[in-house]
Amino acid sequence: MTPPNQPAQPADQHHLSESVANAAERRWAIIVVLIIASLLAMMIFTGLHWAAMPPSRVETVDVRTLHIRGEFVESNLGTAIEKDGRVLVRLIAQQYSFSPQCIVVPAGKPVTFRGTSTDAIHGFVVGKTNANTMLIPGFVSTFTTTFPKTGEQLMPCHEYCGIGHEAMWARVQVISPEEFFAKTKASERLNCVPR
Ligand code: CUA
Repeated sequence: MTPPNQPAQPADQHHLSESVANAAERRWAIIVVLIIASLLAMMIFTGLHWAAMPPSRVETVDVRTLHIRGEFVESNLGTAIEKDGRVLVRLIAQQYSFSPQCIVVPAGKPVTFRGTSTDAIHGFVVGKTNANTMLIPGFVSTFTTTFPKTGEQLMPCHEYCGIGHEAMWARVQVISPEEFFAKTKASERLNCVPR
């Protein structure tokens, strides 16, 4: 029995609040679907427009002949001074190491990296610097950066590439430009020195 001081809810008021709630839910459902649709459209557009290429200048390389000829043969890897005076580092990533294992670069000078992969997608970042790229089989990734301070930096692989991923890393030795250019006079390719 309804207590006398509590009036029963009128039937149309109940229907009104239900239709208000339904309208609000429908409105939010439409907004969420629109957000998801626009995110998907953005992903599809950028994927097709940039053809899902590595985030650098698009340049291809034949993975099958990488070790045999061209700029990524083993004797050509590491740091070199190009004819135009640029400092250029060439490297290869494979499961689960980088070649070379240690890279020497001068501090305070622009250094250009050119790298690719022989098998899976790898990547690297050098310490806390902005040197950071993906290495994708069939593509040459390239970027130029400057290392402000001397010292040794770790260069881990940062794309999951298999069970050995967490053990895949190289080192980068940033040395003073004087020491660097004195060394380049002595040999064509630079190697790390034990410190
Ligand atoms: Cu190579 Cu992860």
